[in-house]
Amino acid sequence: MAKGLFVTLEGSEGVGKSTQLRLLHSALASLGHDVLTTREPGGSPGAEDLRQLLLFGKNPLSLRAEILTHFAARADHLDQMITPALAEGQIVICDRFTDSTMAYQGYGRAEGEPDVLDMISRLQSQLGRDPDVTFLLEAPRDVARLRLAARGAPVDRYEQSDEAFHARVSAGFREIARQNTGRIRRLQTDAHSAEEINSLIVKDILSHIAQA
Ligand code: TMP
Repeated sequence: MAKGLFVTLEGSEGVGKSTQLRLLHSALASLGHDVLTTREPGGSPGAEDLRQLLLFGKNPLSLRAEILTHFAARADHLDQMITPALAEGQIVICDRFTDSTMAYQGYGRAEGEPDVLDMISRLQSQLGRDPDVTFLLEAPRDVARLRLAARGAPVDRYEQSDEAFHARVSAGFREIARQNTGRIRRLQTDAHSAEEINSLIVKDILSHIAQA
């Protein structure tokens, strides 16, 4: 491949992104593709330090500082990991990217305030790299909550937020998908098995590679 493919997985917590990331890596690697799976916030050593601050920092940041910290982590992740991997022709699959900042900070925290959405769009344009294709995984909140409880991982700042916040985030993702129908594919993860969702995503990624 002359140039790589940048794929992102998006959605609220507990919709099955980590399972899909794992299944995608092994499905694409077994077809002979060079695949980098990564995540945000984080993905590079410096950005993982910022992840700790964002998710578990003792003191809450102001909204603008929180957005800029997500973008500082994202810039480091792009510069140190994603851009070099794409330049080598790899398929990069990233668990969350700027759509998460739009959904969580823009629609969740700022309740869709136009100036905040605009700030996030401008920061994204300055980064200079959009995903080629994004899969938005969705599941009803009660299904997602059961999955989260079963996972038993430490509860981060965003998971502690109230149900109204999570409802705004999910509605935000749906709105982002409506505005980006060319890039974003929506998948209901509770309606199919993880393997079925995985083959749909693999098929879609392979058709993108064939078109490139
Ligand atoms: P996760 O990777 O385990 O889903 O946790 C990351 C958390 O960070 C999740 O609650 C979503 C949140 N987040 C934001 O609020 N804004 C962002 O830009 C990103 C990438 C994640």
